[in-house]
Amino acid sequence: MAQLRFRNTNERITSQEQIKALFDGLGAVYERWDTAKLPEAIRGRFLLSEEDKQAVLASYDAEIRELSGRRGYRSWDAIALSDETPQIEEQLKKFEQIHIHPEDELRAIVAGSGVFVVKGPGDAGYIDVEVEAGDVLSVPKGTPHFFTLQADRRVVAVRLFVGEDGWIAEPVEDPSYQAGA
Ligand SMILES: [Fe+2]
Repeated sequence: MAQLRFRNTNERITSQEQIKALFDGLGAVYERWDTAKLPEAIRGRFLLSEEDKQAVLASYDAEIRELSGRRGYRSWDAIALSDETPQIEEQLKKFEQIHIHPEDELRAIVAGSGVFVVKGPGDAGYIDVEVEAGDVLSVPKGTPHFFTLQADRRVVAVRLFVGEDGWIAEPVEDPSYQAGA
């Protein structure tokens, strides 16, 4: 389950009720998918073919359609990242840039783990949202954020987009972000 770490204060929130309340307050999704639904053949694998990715999407079809009905998502895909991913360092560099989207984006972690670094409300500063398999969250439109891997450097995620063509990222220069904090 997700944990939050406020980069300014190093304060941690592990209470699921508090995390849910924080996301609710932002109009964002924080919920869980059943990790047992991940197809057997894909478990423990982080280099996935197109066919594997379609199998991941098929296994969570009911959840995807329910969220799309509720939140207006119109397209989705599955991604896998690990040290086996070709050009992983370049891909991570691309991911690790603060950006915003004109629409909200939703991510469901179905295997592995990761970190969403998200600008918190008010003067909260940036928050590390540490996510693991089963965590589903959205980042509200216009909220500066980026995604990166945890120390194990492997993740399989389902991404849901409002736009038909996936997301459009607009880079943000934010001097209040401290990379090493
Ligand atoms: Fe994003």
